[in-house]
Amino acid sequence: MNPKLLIVDDDEEIRTQMKWALAKDYDVTLAESRVTAIEAFRAQQPMVVLLDLGLPPHPNSPEEGLAALSELLGLNPLVKVVIVSGQGEKENALQAIGAGAYDFLTKPVNMEELKFLLKRSFHTAQLEKEYNEMQKLVRTDAFEGVLGESTAMRAIFDSIRKVATTEAPVLILGESGTGKEMAAKAIHQRSNRKDGPFVAINCGAIPETLLESELFGHEKGAFTGAHVQRKGRIESANAGTLFLDEIGEIPLALQVKLLRFLQEQTIERVGGRQSIQINTRVVAATNVDLKKAMAAGKFREDLYYRLAVVQVSLPPLRERENDIRLLAQYFLNRFSAEVKKPSLTFDAEAVKALNRHAWPGNVRELENCVRRAAIMAEGKRVTAKDLELNPGDPDSGITTLKDAREAVERRMVQQALKKHGGKIAPAAVELGMSRPTLYELMDKLGISRE
Ligand SMILES: Nc1ncnc2c1ncn2[C@@H]1O[C@H](COP(=O)(O)OP(=O)(O)OP(=O)(O)O)[C@@H](O)[C@H]1O
Ligand SMILES: [Mg+2]
Repeated sequence: MNPKLLIVDDDEEIRTQMKWALAKDYDVTLAESRVTAIEAFRAQQPMVVLLDLGLPPHPNSPEEGLAALSELLGLNPLVKVVIVSGQGEKENALQAIGAGAYDFLTKPVNMEELKFLLKRSFHTAQLEKEYNEMQKLVRTDAFEGVLGESTAMRAIFDSIRKVATTEAPVLILGESGTGKEMAAKAIHQRSNRKDGPFVAINCGAIPETLLESELFGHEKGAFTGAHVQRKGRIESANAGTLFLDEIGEIPLALQVKLLRFLQEQTIERVGGRQSIQINTRVVAATNVDLKKAMAAGKFREDLYYRLAVVQVSLPPLRERENDIRLLAQYFLNRFSAEVKKPSLTFDAEAVKALNRHAWPGNVRELENCVRRAAIMAEGKRVTAKDLELNPGDPDSGITTLKDAREAVERRMVQQALKKHGGKIAPAAVELGMSRPTLYELMDKLGISRE
């Protein structure tokens, strides 16, 4: 289908001549006056209009043409209007440019020049249209940087709005990569503490022996290697928010100390005797089932009830309707800018593949997948192949040995991780590989480390 072009001129001979010259490349509509031009424009919605300024009832002055120009732009500010002006009317043409016309040509029109100018006009119009659509898609509803317009995410934004300004601890639940840390930051940003620090600590990533002094700090000489006094993260978060990530990984002995801090709002540094008053709001997160951990005696019930006064449960990405598309395009904009490519978009197959994938690693997996695709993409469109996603259900698209191997690897790694509550070490043992190898494999498969 050829792009639509509207030609407005009161000279029948010129209209016919232009139509004859341009009909091969464009779907041409003709009009001879302002009124018929506007009518045709409303009906056809062309992206480019070729406009003669001298129209009846004033064929010898530009006023009717200029009025048409302003009406056209009023109907669609993105339309590209190319002015065709008579000899000695350059001033009028410039006035039209000032009023928003895209470019102008002088009669008699050189057809080659006209064709070139039209091509450029359509190209610009198309780019602007795509850019606008993309911006619309991305602008919708970012909440402190957290994107989402699904019902599930709107509900999350509502509850964050409500809990943020209270002082109560919040427990954020959600599969890995669902945006727990982002949600914690949003709570901080929306709270009265937003000018204070946001301090995060991943309780699962710090060796047990170091975790206590990381959290509570230590005095000089408290243990071998404690050469100087150090503040802990709880103290650093004073007047702000402390984010305890992977709270389920905290050893029982420390759970007692943490509980005392939550109850009394005081701490003692390791090796210290002085109790320090702290004013810190706690937000915790976990992707393991704390109720199960409690039943297994690995998590204290009293601590759980302290932390879980308010719960925010982030839905997995696959349950967020259109958010996959929204997030994917957002990441694509970001990464194409990063790799210095012009704005990329997904082709139809890619969109299908994105929607069908189950996203076990949620937003983080999507982010990694799009980053890779932005690098791989040739030209302006990202394909399903660039995404390395097979359209169709998980197994039906498998055609190569490599795909099959990856599908099996993914399934086994996910099962092992699930069985061991996300813990790497036992999962690696079960899979018969070293921890670094498992990490490598998870990175390759786009499975989150947490
Ligand atoms: N709704 C969202 N809008 C924009 N970016 C998001 C959104 N959710 C998550 N992200 C991005 O996805 C990545 C993972 O988010 P985040 O670290 O908050 O998740 P998490 O639940 O803490 O993950 P993990 O369980 O792996 O620690 C981050 O890069 C984050 O910026
Ligand atoms: Mg996290």
